[in-house]
Amino acid sequence: MLSAVERKIEQYVISLEHPEILAFYHKLPAGKRLRAKLILYIAGDNLQSVKLAAIVEMIHAASLLHDDVIDDAMTRRNKPSLNAIYGNKVAIMLGDVLYSKGFNELSIMDAKIAQIISDAVIKLSIGELDDVMMSKTFNTNKEQYIKMIYGKTASLIEASANAAALLAGKPQDKYRIYGKNLGLAFQMIDDLLDVVSDSATLGKPALHDFEEGKTTLPYMYLYEALDEQEKIRLKSLHGKVLSSNDSAWVQEQIKIYNIPQKCYKEAASLIDEAIKLMQSEGEAKLSAIAKEMIDRDF
Ligand code: FPP
Ligand code: MG
Repeated sequence: MLSAVERKIEQYVISLEHPEILAFYHKLPAGKRLRAKLILYIAGDNLQSVKLAAIVEMIHAASLLHDDVIDDAMTRRNKPSLNAIYGNKVAIMLGDVLYSKGFNELSIMDAKIAQIISDAVIKLSIGELDDVMMSKTFNTNKEQYIKMIYGKTASLIEASANAAALLAGKPQDKYRIYGKNLGLAFQMIDDLLDVVSDSATLGKPALHDFEEGKTTLPYMYLYEALDEQEKIRLKSLHGKVLSSNDSAWVQEQIKIYNIPQKCYKEAASLIDEAIKLMQSEGEAKLSAIAKEMIDRDF
């Protein structure tokens, strides 16, 4: 079923009649296609859901192209990012092409579906802007962090599940909350991986987020746990390239204060709610997707 989505995206890109754009597109790693999977599992194997899934994945791919420019990321999914290969200008413009083609196709779908998805893209953009602004200072406000990750990550996953439920005539709110929780947990785990993984497994250096100025959930919990002197030390390291000594210190504190377990617990409680919602609808595949997200040791 996912191959139908891949074909549809390819078809949309080919219709632009620009061989270089197609070649750039082929350089992008497909990724997990989480949003497409949700749409197909919820709304079934039919042309409308394949189209919706293709549109959402094109918008998502566009957002990652822009995000890698914003984050100066040289890798994406363990491969060189498009900005690393062709530079920022190509990456931004390919993002714009995929984004506008996706929106063009969205505009000829049901108006309610278009409304749900376009509303999420506004949230996505505001969430990314909040992420950029928040990384200028050391942030200890968890509510602000949740609001930001809801925008930049959960909103499009929430909208995918919501729009798919609308297509299928299923109870929208249950699926919407499932998508929202999945998205929030996904970003929390992504932020956690930055502090527990090494560069080999993550494809980017551990603690990279903090060096970039991002005070993600693990750093917020760590800050809460540290004594006054240690708090000052952590704050002083924010947004800087860490020496191996400082990096080792941060990693050690993260272990001492069981930070991974605390973050994991928070993500797991969102996933529990998501699983319960899907179990009540008899959606085994969707429950399994949620379970897989947190099925690993930290
Ligand atoms: C990844 O966050 C970023 C996103 C999921 C959203 C990016 C959104 C935009 C750039 C705005 C919308 C733009 C368009 C074209 C629709 P991250 O940096 O924390 O995750 P990462 O580790 O995967 O890079
Ligand atoms: Mg990024």
